[in-house]
Amino acid sequence: MIVFYELQSLYNETGQQLIILMSEKIPRHIAIIMDGNGRWAKKNGLSRIEGHRRGAAAIDDVVEAAMDLHVSYLTLYAFSEENWKRPHDEVKALMNLLRMYLIDKRQKMISKGIRFMVIGDAKMLSSELQQEVKTTINATSLGNKMTMIVALSYGSRQEICRSVNRMISSGIKQVTVEAITDNLDTKGIPDPDLLIRTSGENRISNFLLWQLAYTELYFSNIPWPEFDKEQLVLAIQEYQRRERRFGMISEQLS
Ligand code: FPP
Repeated sequence: MIVFYELQSLYNETGQQLIILMSEKIPRHIAIIMDGNGRWAKKNGLSRIEGHRRGAAAIDDVVEAAMDLHVSYLTLYAFSEENWKRPHDEVKALMNLLRMYLIDKRQKMISKGIRFMVIGDAKMLSSELQQEVKTTINATSLGNKMTMIVALSYGSRQEICRSVNRMISSGIKQVTVEAITDNLDTKGIPDPDLLIRTSGENRISNFLLWQLAYTELYFSNIPWPEFDKEQLVLAIQEYQRRERRFGMISEQLS
């Protein structure tokens, strides 16, 4: 049987065509563990904080490419609950970067139709950062091109506990897969189709453990500050070669 796919092109800044992808198989939701800022900085003789700055700068290219490819949801792991244990100066610099990111990019998000959301334990954040988060969520709430979800002070085990506690508070009698899902921070967001982790580490690190049950995993050796739209395309190409069976057999898939 010959299947004709509608094709999707992506161009770089100079108008050169990067790749043609099958529109039907563009992941609806991509989640990214943006790893390797520190190692990249060390290799380049820079401070870890400069590594994070370059990491923040790398986000735009990937957001733009995801939008051009009509990805509906992009989740970025920016700060884990465990990251609070890092040296005080690094935590402070990361929090400052996040705050500045929201201030700098809010207008662009609105004009591009990006809806901004966060997952994680927001009350751990400073009141200034909480305020910028709230302002950005409200200002972008009508965005309908792509939802950008930033995981901030996020831990998946903690999120599952929050879900269970919400269920207990609501007086639920029977725990089901749907009930846990509907009480997670990601309520209403479809599970990721593709998870990308940069910088050569092959682990999940307490990220979206529940939601990744049937997600395709892609590990790249490229450190996050060097990850760009070309790298995103490589990940999506690999995703398009995979067969997702969700527990069934090939013959059952249409
Ligand atoms: C992991 O690299 C990265 C982080 C803990 C922070 C990710 C943050 C950014 C990309 C910038 C800020 C984000 C936004 C949304 C503005 P690492 O430091 O653990 O790297 P290493 O493993 O090489 O030390």
